[in-house]
Amino acid sequence: MCGIAAYKGTKQASPILLEALRKMEYRGYDSAGIATVHDGVITVRKDTGKVEEVNKKVQFSELKGTTGISHSRWATTGSVTQKNAHPHYSSDKKLAVVQNGIVENYQELKATLEEKGYSFQSETDTEVIAKLVEDSEHDLLQAVQDAFLQLHGRNAFVVLDSTGSIVAAKKGSPLILGIGEDALFLASDPAALLEHTKNVIFIEDNELVVLDDAYTIYNANTLQELKKEPTTINWTVEQAQKGNYDHFMIKEIMEQKECIMQALAQPKELIQTVVNEINGAFGTYVVGCGTAGKVALTSTYAFSDIAKMHINFAFGSEFPSYHDFLTEKSLLIAISQSGETADTLEALETAKAKGGKIISVVNVMGSTMMRKSDHTLMVNAGPEISVCSTKATTNQLAIMYLLAYACNGRYDEGLSILKGTAAAVDEMLNDAFCAHVKKLAEKLLDQPNIYVIGRGMNYPMALEAAIKIQEVSYIHAEGFAGGELKHGPLALIDKDVPVIAFVANDETKEDILANAEETKARGAYVIGIAPENNDVFDYWIQVPDCPETSPIPNIVPVQLLAYYLSTMKGNDVDKPKNLSKCVSVK
Ligand code: G6P
Repeated sequence: MCGIAAYKGTKQASPILLEALRKMEYRGYDSAGIATVHDGVITVRKDTGKVEEVNKKVQFSELKGTTGISHSRWATTGSVTQKNAHPHYSSDKKLAVVQNGIVENYQELKATLEEKGYSFQSETDTEVIAKLVEDSEHDLLQAVQDAFLQLHGRNAFVVLDSTGSIVAAKKGSPLILGIGEDALFLASDPAALLEHTKNVIFIEDNELVVLDDAYTIYNANTLQELKKEPTTINWTVEQAQKGNYDHFMIKEIMEQKECIMQALAQPKELIQTVVNEINGAFGTYVVGCGTAGKVALTSTYAFSDIAKMHINFAFGSEFPSYHDFLTEKSLLIAISQSGETADTLEALETAKAKGGKIISVVNVMGSTMMRKSDHTLMVNAGPEISVCSTKATTNQLAIMYLLAYACNGRYDEGLSILKGTAAAVDEMLNDAFCAHVKKLAEKLLDQPNIYVIGRGMNYPMALEAAIKIQEVSYIHAEGFAGGELKHGPLALIDKDVPVIAFVANDETKEDILANAEETKARGAYVIGIAPENNDVFDYWIQVPDCPETSPIPNIVPVQLLAYYLSTMKGNDVDKPKNLSKCVSVK
């Protein structure tokens, strides 16, 4: 949700900042902007649209200077207009500011500033930060501190001043300092830094960073200098590029051929530690949002079926209803690709504040969730750039299944079953399979509605399949528990309405086939995702037979289907409208 970057070095800043915007565009693509400083003057260029469109309109390359800041926006406060795009100037144009996050009390702060005579060019909370810093009588560092301490909400912001100094502050939203040979960088995501450096420091909440000839990190409350050692990012530049693929989404779908195996490369001792935490807890809650939420819900079935244990589930946004039950004996398992999703983070922070233990299952190294957890299981999917989660999903599923097996004392057997599942996905994802799914996409392209049904552990996958189709193809899709069909959704079924049925080779098989029959009897066009064909299927997509881990192979053809539907419609599959990869606001 918004990407911010800064560069201070010896090269021209604008091409580097533009490239950082391209890398972080998945975080927000309503508008983009860059500010650089040259000969003591800050110049801002910004506009609405995706980064390339904005670049065409404003020609970022004409911006001179070796120091600057940039921003890709996902609008929160203020509509999508040129004026609301970042960076925002102070009144005297001696400062420019970019922000990722939200200033919850911006209206009060704005009113006070207006009383003092400040006027505002935009509707944003970010311009309030620029003017708060300007209003302080102190030097830049202390002025940023003065402003920072007045802000409520989760955010990270960067201030550029006309002398070429940069000061950034963080509370809630991610901020990473990159240390290059002759340059310093700031970014919301490590992927934006990879080309330049793998040496990074993850800035913590309530810290300020100053970039001058060198960097200095301060405690934002006391301005005491902090010494922090850089760590190394283990992602490669190639992983964050499209390579020979047309889009990140298809690249990331195909990467599932190998990367599920990486998810299984968890240190055995760490798995045992997590198992001990689960066994010792009085109340385990598994929480996530969006696709990670569907993985979390699937894991409750995996724990019931495999570990014979009950664990509680809530979407991050719904978790406040559970707050009263949290104690120091609670265990919260947070599942997240980014490790930054605000609602999941709030659940984690609440459980921690009540003394509970925290396990996170995250993909982005150094993310806030990782740093706030007692233990982290890394998803090991590599950078996932497409807004739509694919490879992180199957890797998260693999990890949650491995935990369920380990909780049942079947770690070795579970690991071997899951390695078999990973190998089966690798074998399944061949050209003929992709072509078969593409043919289905051609058939479904003009359908206004697609329904998906599943039972047991494939019920959450029906929900996930529906959001996959919605988010990139913009076709209305809904997922249902097979048994719930006759309590309402069956009224939606008419001739030729597509119904995708996940038919796993487990105890739900007969019942879900009966549900598929019920839709067929009303004229539905039934698409079976199953290891075996069946008369009820009008279209069969064969998946490997993985009775205990079927959600892992089952979701893959729907990811592909969503991809083909989206690209055939000419949609921007990696950046679907109105969405952002990292939802750092509530
Ligand atoms: C956004 C993304 C989804 C993702 C969800 C949760 O909505 O578009 O792909 O599943 O956030 O994100 P997280 O990073 O916590 O997994």
